[in-house]
Amino acid sequence: MTNQPRPAAEFSPVRPAADAPGRIVAEPAARPESAAADALVLFLAEGGVGIGVAAEIDRATGGLLGRLAAAGELTGKRSECVPLLAAPGIAAGQLLVVGLGKREEIDAGVLYRAAATAARQLAGRPRAAVAFAADGGWTSRQLEQAVAGAAVGMVGQDLYRADRRRTRFGATLWIGAAAEAVRVGATIADGVNLARRLVNTAPDDLYPESFADEAAAVAGRTGMEIEIWDEDRLVGERCRAILAVGRGAARPPRLVLLRYRGPGRTDGPPDVALVGKGVTFDSGGLSLKPSESMLTMKCDMAGGAAVLAAAATIAALKLPVHLVAAIGLVENMTGPAAYKLGDVITARSGTTIEVHNTDAEGRIVLADVLDVVRGMQPQKIIDAATLTGACMVALGHDVAGLFTNDQAWCDRLAAAARAMGEPVWQLPMYADYDEQIKSDVADIKNVGDGRWGGAITAAKFLERFVGGIPWTHVDIAGPAFAEKPKPWTDGGGTGSMVRPFVELVRGG
Ligand code: BES
Ligand code: MN
Ligand code: ZN
Repeated sequence: MTNQPRPAAEFSPVRPAADAPGRIVAEPAARPESAAADALVLFLAEGGVGIGVAAEIDRATGGLLGRLAAAGELTGKRSECVPLLAAPGIAAGQLLVVGLGKREEIDAGVLYRAAATAARQLAGRPRAAVAFAADGGWTSRQLEQAVAGAAVGMVGQDLYRADRRRTRFGATLWIGAAAEAVRVGATIADGVNLARRLVNTAPDDLYPESFADEAAAVAGRTGMEIEIWDEDRLVGERCRAILAVGRGAARPPRLVLLRYRGPGRTDGPPDVALVGKGVTFDSGGLSLKPSESMLTMKCDMAGGAAVLAAAATIAALKLPVHLVAAIGLVENMTGPAAYKLGDVITARSGTTIEVHNTDAEGRIVLADVLDVVRGMQPQKIIDAATLTGACMVALGHDVAGLFTNDQAWCDRLAAAARAMGEPVWQLPMYADYDEQIKSDVADIKNVGDGRWGGAITAAKFLERFVGGIPWTHVDIAGPAFAEKPKPWTDGGGTGSMVRPFVELVRGG
């Protein structure tokens, strides 16, 4: 029985993180020094002891911060975390001072990471309540992102551990903060943490059907419409590319379609379509990956997770947009029916694809998902995919690659990503690269000539399926998954691109 797919009902939606979600509340009128909490977090810029809320707290402590700064113990440098236990004049058990770096470089992304850094440190043991001192000088975007960062930083990757490394605070109190921004920030954090949890869930627990079940639960909570295409429907819809990649697996593929109509967006085609690669495990198929490369391939659905989480957040925030999200879900395995090198697949669009490498599966899956979305005639398309190792060779672990057929649309996404502190870099789409995916026996093949420019030839392949609609592809092979922890996050799923997608739709 062990290799039979488990019925969906057995997958209790999420293997639950044992900790309770925790309340996140605004206390706009409270004084930070009198907050009744285990800890009070103060954000401090370099040379910032005399400014804003830091000056108030310095006064409350009788000038302690100023003396520590003069002694060089407190610099405000980025990621610096200085815990001051039993600080005089402070009701909270400890005052944790977290550095923001240079004042002129502080933005929403810096505050997100600083808040996450402080929260991650404090979540190392259970805390009933943690207070954060908001600075009156922040914009609402900055406050929202600080709130989001704090709520993401207190969540680790403990889904399967009895001995938890992070515990969410019973309550997070945002002192001096507006209630609306706190609500928005907490909602954004729910999205990021959803994407992280899906990526961190073991591939034997998160497979196409169970991912689709998760999507259905999310749709129910947020009031989105959902369609789940099973194998029969995929056959009926001629999604032969998705079906081909899925053939080697015991777990059948799925396609998830979500639709959200915001206030005032009752008819007409979608404003935006978000498309996600949802390969719940990528063994490479018959072009099998070596063990070291395969180890982290539960993360190969991170694009799908980002798209689901962003759609859920956009719906929860009731943003005025008509959005569709489409996620192609398959396991890329080596079973007896697996697709083979030399196979020619007729994709849903009619384009024929010669398979040169079964490990270049993401683009084959996305060919059909993009075609389904194209048929809905959205104004614009974005796809997110852990598509190529080549993109990591080009840009490293932390930077997402951007590829587009419409510069203005790409620029908007790049601006949203940078505003959120998620680094992105655009790669070129010269027509010459199209030569590399020509096939001798079919319209195109699924790899370029050799590995050079592999991130671009993959994007060129996707471009064939968007029918000229303005489109931007985001290759998140690097940033979707952190193999090592950083000051602001434990390793594992990062929730990459959730905040930029939400920001883009907000038009920020
Ligand atoms: N899922 C991988 C890409 C990937 C690599 C994601 C590392 C995250 C971390 C993708 O399906 C893949 O295997 N791509 C191949 C393409 C090649 C065979 C043309 C690659 O990048 O090696
Ligand atoms: Mn692959
Ligand atoms: Zn893959």
